[in-house]
Amino acid sequence: MAPGRFITLEGGEGTGKSTLAAGLEEALGRRDVKVERTREPGGTPGAEEIRKLLVEGTADRWQPISEALLLYAARHDHVERHIKPALAAGRWVISDRFFDSTTAYQGAAGGVDAQTLATLRQLVLGDFAPDLTLILDLDPEAGLTRAGSRGTGEARFESKGLAFHQRLRQGFLDITKAEPERCVVIDAGQPPETVLADALAAIETRLGGRNER
Ligand SMILES: Nc1ncnc2c1ncn2[C@@H]1O[C@H](COP(=O)(O)OP(=O)(O)OP(=O)(O)O)[C@@H](O)[C@H]1O
Ligand SMILES: [Mg+2]
Repeated sequence: MAPGRFITLEGGEGTGKSTLAAGLEEALGRRDVKVERTREPGGTPGAEEIRKLLVEGTADRWQPISEALLLYAARHDHVERHIKPALAAGRWVISDRFFDSTTAYQGAAGGVDAQTLATLRQLVLGDFAPDLTLILDLDPEAGLTRAGSRGTGEARFESKGLAFHQRLRQGFLDITKAEPERCVVIDAGQPPETVLADALAAIETRLGGRNER
């Protein structure tokens, strides 16, 4: 069986990742693509436990390097026990966040050395990477306003202040500049249906939108 495709959705708080993930699952499902939607941190029972340690509590609960180690522990479990088996079974996996979030949050915004994070990624994942990454770009003030209405209690990163979120936005744009063949930036200030249409167009262009193999 042909392996599935691995698509990741990235961007700051409230940029519309979860909304887009749901829209893509439905739209691709209508094209007879078998889609598996997942998220980070999380995606397996163990990784969801680690998620709680990361997203709840005060902003200074962890230093960024500790966060990066927790994230990669969770990510290893997620990749080995969930993502790789789904891809091997021919399903397309859509993950709401993946390793670019660590590069941007703990690296660009949090101050962990980029080479340290690249080494950690290589150690844990080797060359495993998404086939396509959609980066939702939005002014952080607008994103934080949107995210504030979510009300889940998972507000630890939201509470880090505007300067952090501005570095974060630039971090995601820098990733796209460094890896243009993997990453596509989408203007997340547009209405949800336009964001979805742009995402489907990028999937069509980069991966072929139908499961034709
Ligand atoms: N394109 C859009 N335009 C306006 N509002 C949007 C758009 N996309 C999502 N929203 C709304 O903004 C809020 C945040 O969206 P969503 O939860 O999808 O973002 P997210 O990137 O997953 O956020 P988080 O980083 O907090 O998980 C929701 O109330 C959602 O309905
Ligand atoms: Mg979300």
